[in-house]
Amino acid sequence: MSDKVLVCGSVAFDTIAVFEGHFKDHILPDSIHSLSVSFFVPNMRKEYGGCAGNIAYNLRLLGGDPLPVGTVGADASDYLDYLGDLGIDTRLIRVLPDMYTPQCFITTDLDNNQIASFHPGAMIRSAENDVTGEQAAWAIVAPDSRDGMFAHAERLHAQGIPFIFDLGQAMPLFSGDDLNRMLSMARLLTANHYEASVIEQRTGHAMAEIAQTLDGVVVTHGVDGSHVYAGGQETRIPAIAVDQVVDPTGCGDAHRAGLLYGLTKGWSLPDACRLANVMGGIKIASRGPQNHRPSRADISALLHANYGMTLPA
Ligand SMILES: Nc1ncnc2c1ncn2[C@@H]1O[C@H](COP(=O)(O)OP(=O)(O)OP(=O)(O)O)[C@@H](O)[C@H]1O
Ligand SMILES: [Mg+2]
Repeated sequence: MSDKVLVCGSVAFDTIAVFEGHFKDHILPDSIHSLSVSFFVPNMRKEYGGCAGNIAYNLRLLGGDPLPVGTVGADASDYLDYLGDLGIDTRLIRVLPDMYTPQCFITTDLDNNQIASFHPGAMIRSAENDVTGEQAAWAIVAPDSRDGMFAHAERLHAQGIPFIFDLGQAMPLFSGDDLNRMLSMARLLTANHYEASVIEQRTGHAMAEIAQTLDGVVVTHGVDGSHVYAGGQETRIPAIAVDQVVDPTGCGDAHRAGLLYGLTKGWSLPDACRLANVMGGIKIASRGPQNHRPSRADISALLHANYGMTLPA
């Protein structure tokens, strides 16, 4: 069986700057009606990110065969070269030369407050990136433009390619009816604890009920690991113990990659989720979504130490 995974979602840059002060000293309640503030931020980093980029990165760490599906602008050539150097096939990342790559600008202060802006750029045209005719063992429809998520889901469904629906930060774009329509096409649902509670509210169905209409549901709970709902049962999989908690950004995407890897190997959902927890636990120990560099042997050793499993040779 092919191990190819179509990873549909955003391919984006994240720019994170740190203001060495407190926003509250500069954004004053009595001048908020005409706000004009500028923060001096000598400490800045630019990360490769976006859900499809992050998931593909982690799947490649595992030795998987991800095909990221996204839309970027002409400014993404360094990102595409970097993915290519990692052995990731970038032919389904479409470059729209008259647009920017999606990018998030985040400024944080010393109280860990954040001011963020997101420019969607080429992402708003992701529906044009048609994957009809591509073969794959599995796919994921991760956060992207709403139109793009539906277009990918419909095309995958029409071709019989099973996919995970990953709502993530696209949550504000989906009504209860939208969620039900997506779930009628998906084979699996993944969400973090908060997203799961919103999905339950909007659809009126508990995770355990939704799982009965799918192959299963996986809900992540940060330091408390993840819960699998499948076959009428709920299995709680504890997180791995980590040496240091540095940055949670991208833990969800790392988790998705572990799931997808296990699914392409025909593992049970709980076993795939054990690997997913290992990937999330590795990620949290480094800053940014794609700066962890474990070898496959490192991942396999952690999988063995925590759950008594190993990666296939
Ligand atoms: N502190 C932690 N210790 C160990 N594992 C963790 C920790 N935080 C997260 N993980 C692992 O990563 C997985 C995903 O984390 P989480 O539930 O926080 O996702 P998320 O909220 O979608 O994150 P994000 O959107 O920031 O990427 C968890 O199920 C867990 O396995
Ligand atoms: Mg998340």
